[in-house]
Amino acid sequence: MKEEEATMEHRSSSSLSSRALSRSFLGLSLGLGFLVAVAAVIVNFYYKRPAQTSLWTAEELTAYNGTDERLPILLGILGSVFDVSKGRSHYGPGGGYHHFAGRDASRAFVSGNFTGDGLTDSLLGLTSTEVNSIVDWRKFYHERYIFVGKLAGRYYDDQGNPTKYLKGAEAKAKRGAQLLEKQKIEEAKIPSCNSRWSDQDGGKVELFTNDVHGFSCVVYYYLSSKICIHD
Ligand SMILES: *[C@@H]1O[C@H](CO)[C@@H](O)[C@H](O)[C@H]1NC(C)=O
Ligand SMILES: *[C@@H]1O[C@H](CO)[C@@H](O)[C@H](O)[C@H]1NC(C)=O
Repeated sequence: MKEEEATMEHRSSSSLSSRALSRSFLGLSLGLGFLVAVAAVIVNFYYKRPAQTSLWTAEELTAYNGTDERLPILLGILGSVFDVSKGRSHYGPGGGYHHFAGRDASRAFVSGNFTGDGLTDSLLGLTSTEVNSIVDWRKFYHERYIFVGKLAGRYYDDQGNPTKYLKGAEAKAKRGAQLLEKQKIEEAKIPSCNSRWSDQDGGKVELFTNDVHGFSCVVYYYLSSKICIHD
């Protein structure tokens, strides 16, 4: 009997202590949750993270060029703005892509001209395949980085609607893509030459022009800037 009471006592006290434990655990996790929330608000305020998507002006964008480490790094391309902070080593000061930070330098993605007026969002005079290449870059940023809004100006109006310029650029890019596709088909039509690679001679190609397409083979290899020797 006494033993039974003792175990009952033990049981109830243990269930009591486990209840107390779970209460204090609840209190602790609530407290922790609160602390995390406060910390998140502080971090958010301190870093001034831009709203997930918004409409930017070119002037606002310049502050996000990577020089102030508390700010995210933003980049514009065809008027789409991306947070590229996770690529700080590339887009921050000293990085190879730093020129693109804090601005829309769409043209420089294909011109490679990072000096003065070369850093512009104007596509004037670019070919359709070049414009297509810039559209491909925009796709790259959509896939790899965070889209944070649109840049009001050449590509989007003050309401965030696409401008005629953007629609024109996208139509031109489409033509560029079609052209590339056509070129690929043409290249595939060029007959495979009776060629042989010889690695020990530094990638020399030996081409035997013993078929009717011999000439186009030679021209093709010449254009591909491959060394070609034929008998
Ligand atoms: C880069 O951003 C900083 C602020 O973050 C600003 O003071 C500076 O003028 C910007 N540089 C350029 C070239 O816009
Ligand atoms: C870069 O672009 C600017 C402005 O269009 C031009 O003056 C300059 O010659 C260009 N530089 C190169 C290397 O193409």
